[in-house]
Amino acid sequence: MSFRLRRTLLGRFLCCLCLLMMAAASADDRSWLPIAKDGLRDPNGPAAKVLQQPADALTPLAPDTAGNQVRWVRALREGQISPRSSLRKPLKSESYDKDVLLNLNGGMPVVRFPHSIHNEWLDCTNCHDQLFQKERGATKISMFLILQGEQCGVCHGAVAFPLTECARCHSVKRADALAELEREAAAKAAAQPPAPAAKPTPATAAPDARGPARKTEGKSK
Ligand code: HEC
Ligand code: HEC
Ligand code: HEC
Repeated sequence: MSFRLRRTLLGRFLCCLCLLMMAAASADDRSWLPIAKDGLRDPNGPAAKVLQQPADALTPLAPDTAGNQVRWVRALREGQISPRSSLRKPLKSESYDKDVLLNLNGGMPVVRFPHSIHNEWLDCTNCHDQLFQKERGATKISMFLILQGEQCGVCHGAVAFPLTECARCHSVKRADALAELEREAAAKAAAQPPAPAAKPTPATAAPDARGPARKTEGKSK
């Protein structure tokens, strides 16, 4: 009796193990066309023999089910890639982290546009002010234009994740978005000094010759 129980338990365990191994084996069933067959490059050109094959380069990176099958933002966050800002001298790019909530009045969930993620790969001038104004709501953005390859569609569906992934952009419930904007407005109102504001001084500014004077100036706000 106890022997049989153990056998069935062992059997079940082995069965589970097999299933797990099968799942692990089929978890990464991504495949990429070799360079010579991708229809982008001349198969008889010298590059076809020299360039790294996409499968070799991309298999180690975080998988995605859409687009070119790499979840690029995760690959970056997990340190699998670290893009250079320039081939030669390093560029010092401006940083700007604000998320912009778009599409507050439509039927779809609100779009959260994350500046932080975009600025890891792009320069402000890639988008401002040709594609978008530097003011929330100032650009007339539309899904119709996006699907035609304009606005967000200049990159999404071309080099960034495809437009079929609706929820990656339309990611915020309307009520949550409105609450977030309200909190933002309240914080802004609370931070506004009663007197006309001078140039804000960061609290962490390095103390220099004018250090102490600056500090009190900052504190009085
Ligand atoms: C790359 C980001 C992105 C993706 C992916 C995306 N959208 Fe949009 N969508 C937007 C933006 C930005 C707007 C316009 C926001 C505004 O009105 O200011 C928009 C607007 C819309 C609108 C009109 C406004 C509304 O809510 O009624 C609809 C409908 C819409 N999208 C549906 C979709 C559907 C369906 C998909 C997937 C097939 C999709 N979108 C994928 C970014 C995206
Ligand atoms: C991938 C495109 C893209 C890049 C790159 C980008 N932005 Fe934006 N930015 C946007 C979009 C989209 C909006 C919203 C425009 C609208 O609603 O009309 C926006 C809005 C803004 C706003 C207004 C925010 C608000 O709440 O009113 C500022 C300021 C801004 N961007 C600064 C920057 C700076 C600084 C950089 C570079 C460090 C940058 N952006 C890079 C797309 C971009
Ligand atoms: C100039 C190119 C460019 C434009 C324009 C652009 N994006 Fe992106 N976006 C990227 C790249 C590159 C990535 C990172 C690669 C990827 O996720 O495929 C990215 C990533 C994102 C992500 C992050 C997804 C994640 O995995 O966390 C969101 C959300 C997004 N974009 C929304 C938008 C919206 C909404 C617009 C238009 C208002 C827009 N993007 C316009 C290039 C662009």
